[in-house]
Amino acid sequence: MNLSKIIENHIEHNEITNLLSICLDRNQEENLTSNLNNLYSHILRHFEHEEEFMRLINYPSTDNHIQIHNRLKEELAKIITCSYLNILEKETLIKGLRVTISDHMKISDKAVADYVNNILIVNKNA
Ligand SMILES: [Fe+2]
Ligand SMILES: [Fe+2]
Repeated sequence: MNLSKIIENHIEHNEITNLLSICLDRNQEENLTSNLNNLYSHILRHFEHEEEFMRLINYPSTDNHIQIHNRLKEELAKIITCSYLNILEKETLIKGLRVTISDHMKISDKAVADYVNNILIVNKNA
């Protein structure tokens, strides 16, 4: 089992959380578009890694998990591309997205980690 992949994912989660905070930092308003683009490419890469890992371990809820990723990507892309949104509206949407992403990490990503841990325990006791 690829334990380094899980650790790597955990580091990426921290980076995503940091990037989201940067996007909500009032002093960073000028750079919002580039910060959001940076966040988007980071999230894209992270989701790709995670999806590849789930397939590798035959995680049973992979398709469902990928659907959630796709929705999150769409939401972020909408925030980035909606030119009619003002900074306050974008900020509100980013805050909402932060909650959704954080819930996803706490529930769905944790479920993947739990699944891997259970396999490790079963293999250890076999
Ligand atoms: Fe995920
Ligand atoms: Fe994740």
